Amino acid sequence: MDKVRIGLFGCGRGSFVKKYCQKVQNAELVAVCDKVFETQDIPDNGIAHYTKFEDFIKHDMDAVVLANYANEHAPFAIKAMKAGKHVLSEVLPCQCMKEAVELVETAEATGMIYAYSENYCYMPAPREMKRLYLAGELGEFEYGEGEYIHNCEPLWCSIQDGPDHWRNNMYANFYCTHSIGPLIHITGLRPIKVTGFELPCNSRTLRMGRKAGAVGIEMITLENGAMLKSIHGDLGKDSVWYTIYGSKGRMESEREDVREGEHAVCTFRKNIDQFEGECADHIETYRPTDALTELASGHGHGSSDFYVMYNFIEKILGNPEADTIDVYEAMDMFLPGLFAYRSVLEGGKSMDIPNLRFAADRERYRYDTACVDPKVAGNQLLPSYSKGSIEIPDEVYQNMYTPEAKMRIERYLTREKNKR
Ligand SMILES: NC(=O)c1ccc[n+]([C@@H]2O[C@H](COP(=O)([O-])OP(=O)(O)OC[C@H]3O[C@@H](n4cnc5c(N)ncnc54)[C@H](O)[C@@H]3O)[C@@H](O)[C@H]2O)c1
Repeated sequence: MDKVRIGLFGCGRGSFVKKYCQKVQNAELVAVCDKVFETQDIPDNGIAHYTKFEDFIKHDMDAVVLANYANEHAPFAIKAMKAGKHVLSEVLPCQCMKEAVELVETAEATGMIYAYSENYCYMPAPREMKRLYLAGELGEFEYGEGEYIHNCEPLWCSIQDGPDHWRNNMYANFYCTHSIGPLIHITGLRPIKVTGFELPCNSRTLRMGRKAGAVGIEMITLENGAMLKSIHGDLGKDSVWYTIYGSKGRMESEREDVREGEHAVCTFRKNIDQFEGECADHIETYRPTDALTELASGHGHGSSDFYVMYNFIEKILGNPEADTIDVYEAMDMFLPGLFAYRSVLEGGKSMDIPNLRFAADRERYRYDTACVDPKVAGNQLLPSYSKGSIEIPDEVYQNMYTPEAKMRIERYLTREKNKR
């Protein structure tokens, strides 16, 4: 195979796939599927379009990118792999343990490539931190922090469509892999325990129509005893930031607002002397470049959207160096958030994180449907908020679509564009 034929499921965020395929020779977008097509999503010449997954998945193609609702990826990933397609799944990989077990077992049984599209792992600073860590520059990993803070209020009316949308119902710890993922991908260490915290809802989240806490926090223990702090959600000021401490020093990314085109630099304070306290700090700054930097420039989220696609395609084409996130690693990024919320619901109890590489852990959770989606949870339904159900008046959603709100979005997008 010299050209991978891609199908795209979900045309909002999924536009990064179109952009990638327009640039490279070895991948081609052949089909798209969305139940609602906006004018700008109507496919270009030669690209088939579908409104139903069942029809779309029969299209003659090698791989699908799932960019549908964040809580509905697993069932479609499973169907796609069973239909013989490789899968690149947007965040999050699944919404309950039953789905997690089925996803892992389907990837194993079918032998199809499952790659998790946690693009924040491929932002320039985390990429560089991983390179330096693997080269042994940081020594033994001791502690790390990751944060993904995004005040989405200015955008909210364009990224959700009413009370039942996943963005309004997800619990505070659900959307955890932008903050946890890069730390797991850099160190390669497995999380084994988590304690969760939830910041309360506030006037901003209520104005947005969100029915959960504003922010999730996870304190995670890794298999070597090191710890991570992860924080993600909606505070008043955006931030994407990672730091890792090792026996030989500390590395961190620049603290960036959530915007495209940046996240470029990482600094590394090395201990010159091995004895803590005696060393003079030695600071080096890295602005990573590699053979793909130029080609990747201009792609979203600090060019990370390009690297996600690049590595997925290379993996399919058999490149042993392709840096993808497999189904087990996807779970190592996601399960800390799922179990952190169980910890929140149990008053801050420490929870063991299962290792779905092992049959015994799969058996324990095979029928566990606990989540906040009534369609999936059945009688194991969880509340979206630990402190009681939040009732949002219908007008909150209706008023979001006023001309003023649309103008606020325009202003926000223009401001963001001008910052680049
Ligand atoms: N990695 C990132 O940086 C990043 C950024 C934004 C969004 N996302 C992820 O991308 C995904 C999509 O997010 P979004 O912002 O486009 O909003 P969204 O979740 O509202 O959009 C999903 C799209 O899929 C379509 N869809 C959903 N179910 C469908 C079905 N059964 N059949 C056909 N079409 C269906 C919807 O019509 C919509 O166009 C989510 O999983 C989200 O988590 C990731």
